[in-house]
Amino acid sequence: MNKPLRIALTKGRLEKDTVGLLESFGYDCTSIREKGRKLILSVPDGNLEVVLAKANDVITYVEHGVCDMGVVGKDTIMEMKGKCFELVDLGFGKCKFALATKKGYDFYSGYNVKTIATKYPNVTRNFFEAKGMDVDIVKIEGSVELAPLLELADAIVDIVETGTTLKENGLEVIEDVCPVSARLIVNMVSMKLRQNEIESFVELVEKRLDK
Ligand code: PRP
Repeated sequence: MNKPLRIALTKGRLEKDTVGLLESFGYDCTSIREKGRKLILSVPDGNLEVVLAKANDVITYVEHGVCDMGVVGKDTIMEMKGKCFELVDLGFGKCKFALATKKGYDFYSGYNVKTIATKYPNVTRNFFEAKGMDVDIVKIEGSVELAPLLELADAIVDIVETGTTLKENGLEVIEDVCPVSARLIVNMVSMKLRQNEIESFVELVEKRLDK
């Protein structure tokens, strides 16, 4: 048998759905479900080696070719702009990028340059550049919703899933930026060297998505 295809999975929110997808192919994923603190797991049914990583690192590992494939959110792909093939929209991990402010705040009024807090400075820059609007961007690492509440920023560009975090903190969406969902990405060299195995894997995924 060939050496296993190595796939990097995003830990956390996307993990459960990705494991569910692999199990729907009939693969026994007990090794992942009972992983403890282990970070590299074997799924012998699919001849897969599963690497669990943070979203940004999934892209780094796939881009550098130490993992052949990865499952990661479109949000991270848009922010990192890694050199990988994005092959399939997996249809889970659905949320959106949105521009949000304190409820009732008239964001577009006045001529002063607005300050935007975000975990995604590149996405934010592109969004406002497309509008021809000059903004100051402040990079925040998490709980971005704090920034307008503490008056560090006029608005945020962030992921909105259920909208609960915004609502419970007195913020509201004023504009959608774009939809986000989990994607299957593939290393460019692996795509050539292990084309048949990757295509078979993608076929399994696509069959599942058609149902
Ligand atoms: C994300 C995002 C929002 C929240 C949105 O943060 O940055 O804060 O989820 O989800 P909701 O619309 O369902 O409330 P995450 O939980 O990943 O944590 P972080 O803010 O610490 O990055």
